[in-house]
Amino acid sequence: MPIEIIVAQPHGFCGDSVFGVSAAISKAIEASKEYPGNTFLLKEIVHNSHVVNWLFDKYGLKTVSSLEEIPEGSVVVLRSHGSSPETYQLAKQRNLTIIDTTCPLVIGAQRQAKKLANKGRKIIYLASAKDHDEAISVYYQAPDSTTITTLNEILDLKIEDPENTIILTQTTLSTLETAKVFSQLKKRYPMITIVPHICPATTARQQAVIKLAKEIGFVIIVGHPTSSNSNRLKEVATDSGAEAYIVDTETDLQKKWFINKKKVAISSGASTPDWLLQRVIDKIKEI
Ligand code: F3S
Repeated sequence: MPIEIIVAQPHGFCGDSVFGVSAAISKAIEASKEYPGNTFLLKEIVHNSHVVNWLFDKYGLKTVSSLEEIPEGSVVVLRSHGSSPETYQLAKQRNLTIIDTTCPLVIGAQRQAKKLANKGRKIIYLASAKDHDEAISVYYQAPDSTTITTLNEILDLKIEDPENTIILTQTTLSTLETAKVFSQLKKRYPMITIVPHICPATTARQQAVIKLAKEIGFVIIVGHPTSSNSNRLKEVATDSGAEAYIVDTETDLQKKWFINKKKVAISSGASTPDWLLQRVIDKIKEI
């Protein structure tokens, strides 16, 4: 009997036609049609080389790692997770047309950091990695008032002025992974203010995987090895007691995983397109 495949909801790209990764990719494709051969993506639009290659092969959208690689007068697409003020400045100096796909939720965090710093507050920005684009983009709104830290390091920080300190978070952390740290911080510094800017997209994907991991016990996540949100989906499945694997494409699937299995739950990270998920589903049906 063929294995039953249950797809987690929600999964894959965050956002829709107006915000998030889905909108960023649509805007990049539109720009490639309006300015053919002259549109560049600054850094990977999502952490998935299949998407990066597909955008180049199908739409001629070349990904570059710095603005200097883009000929003056061209078009640059800026990522949904935010860019530093220097990036905008340099793009203008190079006379580039900017297609800005920064997600409104990231813009909200940037504005709040600036507002709080103007009121004399100290900001601790909790990020998945200190060099994450979004962290850098928020930091440069108020560099003198902001300290970037990570989930692993925040509890080692000595917070000198907790009454005047606000903790802000990266949008792509999840409420599940921050809950423990927040409660420990509150115990240690009862006067500290925590304003999580957590986007529901990541939490909802993790919650859906946890539910299926507990029900089914066997989970496959489709995501690129460099995608931290995809890796975290696999981790939450394992932590929930399931046998879980992460695959980049259908070729990573191993037949032995499926021996004596009746059901499999499948999900994908926020950087994985549905066409890649579908290829994995089709391959599982053949196993
Ligand atoms: Fe995506 Fe925007 Fe949330 S980029 S993860 S919808 S903050």
